[in-house]
Amino acid sequence: MGHALPSEHERTINIQGIEIALGFPDEFAFQWIGQHDVLEQLLAAWLVIDENDIPLNPRLIGKPGVGKTTLAYAAAQKLNKPVYIFQCTMDTRPEDLLITPVIDKAGGIRYVASALVTAMIRGGVCILDEANRMSEKSWASLAPLLDTRRYIESIVAGLKVAASPEFRICVTMNDDASTFEIPEYIHSRLQPQIYLDFPEAEEEKRILRENLPFLDMHILDYVVNFLQRAHAKNENYTVRDGINIARYAAKRIKSLNGNSGNINNLLQQAIVMTLGDEALAYVV
Ligand SMILES: Nc1ncnc2c1ncn2[C@@H]1O[C@H](COP(=O)(O)OP(=O)(O)O)[C@@H](O)[C@H]1O
Ligand SMILES: [Mg+2]
Repeated sequence: MGHALPSEHERTINIQGIEIALGFPDEFAFQWIGQHDVLEQLLAAWLVIDENDIPLNPRLIGKPGVGKTTLAYAAAQKLNKPVYIFQCTMDTRPEDLLITPVIDKAGGIRYVASALVTAMIRGGVCILDEANRMSEKSWASLAPLLDTRRYIESIVAGLKVAASPEFRICVTMNDDASTFEIPEYIHSRLQPQIYLDFPEAEEEKRILRENLPFLDMHILDYVVNFLQRAHAKNENYTVRDGINIARYAAKRIKSLNGNSGNINNLLQQAIVMTLGDEALAYVV
């Protein structure tokens, strides 16, 4: 099962006589702002403290748009590891998660590693994003990876692939009803659970500014005020909604080219067009 780490430039690896094409890492310039405790919790879960120790496989839970993917990405960057994001859906199959066979030009079969298997081989971080959407069948294919065995078995390629000791994984899950019930034996392999909550006003303003540095402070203040009122009532509006509102309002102001009239009216419109009339309840 063992194999040497491929160099950064190698695009394929040979495992047990079978050539497998590797994927490419995801690259963003994201910075995690505020909420230091959740970042620390995630990094601690990944820490290996003894030669007989293994990393944990933490689960990030929170409402959509609260920052789960960003947090996982930022933590991986802190460790200077390449990051591979796998977007899970309801019809993700085990071979999508692991190794897919592809017909090549000569009519033969080529094997292609998923983001997950590429991360295992390269010793990177895999983010299984929105993993709550996946079916039990797909989860079952990950059971040996998520316990002390740390390998996967690809039925289509007919081989076992061991995770590099450097490999880390983290799973994000939306705290809503859009999910399959995850089986208990998988639950117990995805610990600890790290809950993300809405940011405080000051943090939220910094997050908006980091994402939209070219926007007027008035727009950002307005949107943060709106979001904080919604958070206080436990409404499901998140930073992502705020970013969309601010971005759209700024585009309207720009396209009206100085004839925008009352900017707050445009901001209100942007809120309604992003979140619907109900959202007006949180406008000052
Ligand atoms: N603490 C934070 N620091 C930096 N950006 C954040 C933070 N929280 C949320 N964001 C921003 O909010 C948006 C949504 O975050 P994302 O990670 O995609 O949420 P989720 O994965 O929970 O749906 C992104 O644009 C992200 O950059
Ligand atoms: Mg996400």
